[in-house]
Formats: sequence, structure tokens, C-alpha cells
Amino acid sequence: MNRTLVICKPDAVERGLVGEIVGRLERKGLRLVAGALRVIDAGTAARHYAEHRDKAFYGELIEFITRSPGLALVVEGPPDTWRIVRTLMGPTDPAVAPPGTIRGDLGTVLTENLVHGSDSAEAAAREIAIFFPELA
Ligand code: RTP
Ligand code: MG
Repeated sequence: MNRTLVICKPDAVERGLVGEIVGRLERKGLRLVAGALRVIDAGTAARHYAEHRDKAFYGELIEFITRSPGLALVVEGPPDTWRIVRTLMGPTDPAVAPPGTIRGDLGTVLTENLVHGSDSAEAAAREIAIFFPELA
């Protein structure tokens, strides 16, 4: 089986949409392996989003992801599960994400787009090791 990291971001927890999001992952056929509801600290956020360090939106991104609890999850499924999750999530900007996707159905704002999913097999391994080192 193949694993990837998902985060129900602070906006999803604040809006009470965790059940909706996890339900979509489960109904698709993915299985929860690990989960932790926690405020992501600044150091963990910086490691997680290291690729965006030099972007103009980085400060806002870190402020958002650390502002209140998020639900970090490891989900398991067939090869390239990360890709299945990304398809369910939809494009980064909820304003243009198609209906039927998590972001398309539930969000409107680029900075508050509800869910994170690893974007490659390498990213999945790296991110699982950050949030759940016991699984790495
Ligand atoms: P994520 O990493 O959170 O799953 O999102 P993603 O792969 O779809 O998008 P990514 O390019 O990795 O960007 C990470 C997060 O940064 C915010 N963002 N803001 N203001 C902007 O131009 C901008 N671009 C990206 C988004 O909230 C995105 O989820
Ligand atoms: Mg990303």
C-alpha cells in the first residue's frame, strides 16, 4: 500500500468541515493510518512549506497554517495515493476549482483552501516524516 500526508487546515477545523473532508477521502476508498489534531508550530510549518520560503505569500501562509489546530492525517491506498488525494482536493485556488472537488465545493479564497495534500511520492515521504516520524 501507498501513503500520503493530508492536512485539514485551520479553516477546515474552524468551519467544522473535517468530517466532510475525511468522509470524502474514506468514500473514495482511502484508509486512515494516523491522525493528530494540533496547532502546527512555526518550526514544523517552516519545514513543511520550505519550498515556498522565498515566495511573497510565505509569511501569510505560515501565519495561516499555525493560527489554530489543523488535522494532520496519513492516508493509505493504491500506488500514487498522493495523486488521488490531489484530484479530490482540486486546484490550489478554490475560486477556480471545479465543483465536485473539496476546494471547489467548500472554499472561495486562495489563502484558505481547506486542505493540504503531498504533491509527489517524494513529498509524501518527506512530509509523513515531519508529522509522524514514528511512521517513517
Ligand atoms: P498545499 O501545499 O497547501 O497543499 O497547496 P498546493 O500544493 O495546492 O499549493 P502550493 O503551490 O503548494 O501553495 C501552498 C499554499 O500557499 C498558498 N498560496 N498563496 N498568494 C498566492 O499567490 C499563493 N499561492 C499559493 C495557498 O494557500 C496554497 O495552498
Ligand atoms: Mg503544495
